[in-house]
Amino acid sequence: MRRVLTRILVGFGVLVVALLGAGAWIWSAAPQSNAGELGFRNELWIPPLAEPSVDEPGRKVFDLDLQEGTAELLPGKPAETWGINGPHLGPTLRAERGDEVTVNVDNGLPEPTTLHWHGMHLPAKADGGPHQQVEPGASWSPSWKVDQPAASLWYHPHMMGETEDHVYRGLAGMFLIDDPRASALALPSEYGVDDVPLIIQDKRLNDDGSLDFSQSMVSPTGRLGDEILVNGTRDPYVEVDDRLVRLRLLNASTARAYNFGFSDGREFDLIGTDGGLLERPERLDRVQLSVGERAEIVVAVEPGEELLLRSFEPDLGANPFEDRFSGADDTFDVLAIRVANELDDSPALPSELVPREGPEHGATDGVRRFELGNRDINDQQMDMARIDEVVEMGDTEIWEVENTSGTPHSFHVHDVRFRIIDYAGSSPPPELTGLKDTVYVPPGEMVRFATTFEDYADPSTPYMFHCHILEHEDRGMMGQFVVVAPGQQPAHGEPGHDHTEDHR
Ligand code: C2O
Ligand code: CU
Ligand code: CU
Repeated sequence: MRRVLTRILVGFGVLVVALLGAGAWIWSAAPQSNAGELGFRNELWIPPLAEPSVDEPGRKVFDLDLQEGTAELLPGKPAETWGINGPHLGPTLRAERGDEVTVNVDNGLPEPTTLHWHGMHLPAKADGGPHQQVEPGASWSPSWKVDQPAASLWYHPHMMGETEDHVYRGLAGMFLIDDPRASALALPSEYGVDDVPLIIQDKRLNDDGSLDFSQSMVSPTGRLGDEILVNGTRDPYVEVDDRLVRLRLLNASTARAYNFGFSDGREFDLIGTDGGLLERPERLDRVQLSVGERAEIVVAVEPGEELLLRSFEPDLGANPFEDRFSGADDTFDVLAIRVANELDDSPALPSELVPREGPEHGATDGVRRFELGNRDINDQQMDMARIDEVVEMGDTEIWEVENTSGTPHSFHVHDVRFRIIDYAGSSPPPELTGLKDTVYVPPGEMVRFATTFEDYADPSTPYMFHCHILEHEDRGMMGQFVVVAPGQQPAHGEPGHDHTEDHR
């Protein structure tokens, strides 16, 4: 009897020690870093600029073919990926304010998907959200007029429940908007030379080079990779020969936040955020980007040096457990910038950029409140058949978004740019004073912003608002709003669903 008891006790003790040991191992193995481990052996791929054709009414027409392919994410080890006009990622689209554009999206993939123009002000039918599903073999051709300030936008799938998977496989690209005022500024602007797009994504790769699709058991935000790809290039370097270099940083990851800076601590100028250029450059040594956010920075380089773009530990403001398993203790070398011995001089950075435009919160038409739970918004999960919010066209509203959970969230609104009024109880820091469409909301904190719903009443086709951590979005952390003309009622029944026809 005694022996049995001893055995049980010993067995129990061993189990406790094993559990503690496993817990300690998971805890201590969680922080990821590649600092000092990279050789920067691969030249950064620069996504080509898509060449539009011009149709009869004078529209710029872009053709995007979604396709399966293989890419060597690890050199010499071809892996199955998805891409747009190529095996992995997509070309950079570029248009001018005032342009009429059409994009022909051809789905050559084995699954239905969508393409959404993140940050674009456009009619809901052209938005590429979950209602604009494109079946395999079908195509979808939205048209709209580009009508917003110069900015670095991007595009990616928005398929209900599948966005994390589709983005992770490689569907993403940049969409740059120009306008005459921004183009007249003496800013580095030669694409791929002194104006470099950087699509930053973390991945997990298997030894054979293929993408690892396993989900983390402990991460509150979904899969976090330990490899950082820039424009799909692992271990990348870029060569520059201009005194000032502009980097357009896009966090196109599925969950990870980055806190960008340079390894030697040098300062840079932040010149733009999600929705466009700032009023004036802001001198910073770090800029943090949660999923979906963008920043344009300008850095001064010295002849012959090698400068490292690094992501330092992001400040997520969660508890130690949520922090650690959401990547708050992670550091990564991202890109080596190799500077030529002879440099072309660049004009000094203008001290003024663009006048302030866009929503102000002086006179608003109402306040709308959003509570971010664990995987829900206002205690509800996404339902394609339910319209959550009805907004009147022309109104300027204040949206207050509170994270009532312990988990990091990144809040994004389609169609509009917003201006942050206060952030976690204070006035917004410099990197959050410009126009935004996505904002990190720390656990337990509230962010308030003003935004104006200027055009495109459509009572039956909704736009989305959601957490841009894609695992959260896929699990239902999304809602729908329609913009109606004053006095108009939202349509009853199932929201407008575009069915695409087969063209093959
Ligand atoms: Cu970047 Cu709803 O999307
Ligand atoms: Cu979007
Ligand atoms: Cu979230």
